[in-house]
Amino acid sequence: METFCAFLLLVVGSAVTSAVQNSKDSLLYPYGTDQGDRKNPKLDDGTSPEIPISEPFTFYGKPYYSLYVNNNGVVSFGVNVSQYTPDPFPLEGGWPFVAPYWGDVDNRMGGDVFWRQTQDPAILSRCTADINQYFPKIPFQAIWAFIATWDHVAYFGSASKKVNTFQAVLTTNGNIAFILLNYADIQWTTGRASGGDAKTGLGGTPAQVFMN
Ligand SMILES: *[C@@H]1O[C@H](CO)[C@@H](O)[C@H](O)[C@H]1NC(C)=O
Repeated sequence: METFCAFLLLVVGSAVTSAVQNSKDSLLYPYGTDQGDRKNPKLDDGTSPEIPISEPFTFYGKPYYSLYVNNNGVVSFGVNVSQYTPDPFPLEGGWPFVAPYWGDVDNRMGGDVFWRQTQDPAILSRCTADINQYFPKIPFQAIWAFIATWDHVAYFGSASKKVNTFQAVLTTNGNIAFILLNYADIQWTTGRASGGDAKTGLGGTPAQVFMN
């Protein structure tokens, strides 16, 4: 069986609706080196190495067997992404990627980019419960998850203490793929090289959230 789309679920820390009532602390899936995460090198516009994944992740109908976690707020398939100013959606050339927050992160100035794939039963149960809650008509039991977390990351050219914390959780039942995007704290939108103000991290060409 094949699926032709991935589903996207956005959960924002400050949003309070009947469906989404998460505090900042419980919003994010557990992350960090004590969870077994790897982290990206401290490098402007850096990326992870190609990360082989143990279950194919079907994205727009195509199964992928590896991915990249890119500092600038993008999880990509097939090719790493070092571009720091986001292009408008949809992208020409059809780069397959999901952008939890495509903007000019600079992890030398602050923060870390963590990632791991997992089949930990507690994580899989949480994925299953989240997807079942928001997509009750789609039978789903997670068999695999990938958690990428941008933890307190600063922006290029920063002259402030502003940092963003956000996360992408990719999960699949071996057939259907889902992506959850969790936003714990967003304080800046734009690096200096994208026309942003060094002191506020705002203005210019702001970060974008999308799947392509
Ligand atoms: C991205 O991929 C290219 C081509 O494989 C490679 O030359 C480059 O070093 C990679 N970038 C980073 C930051 O790892």
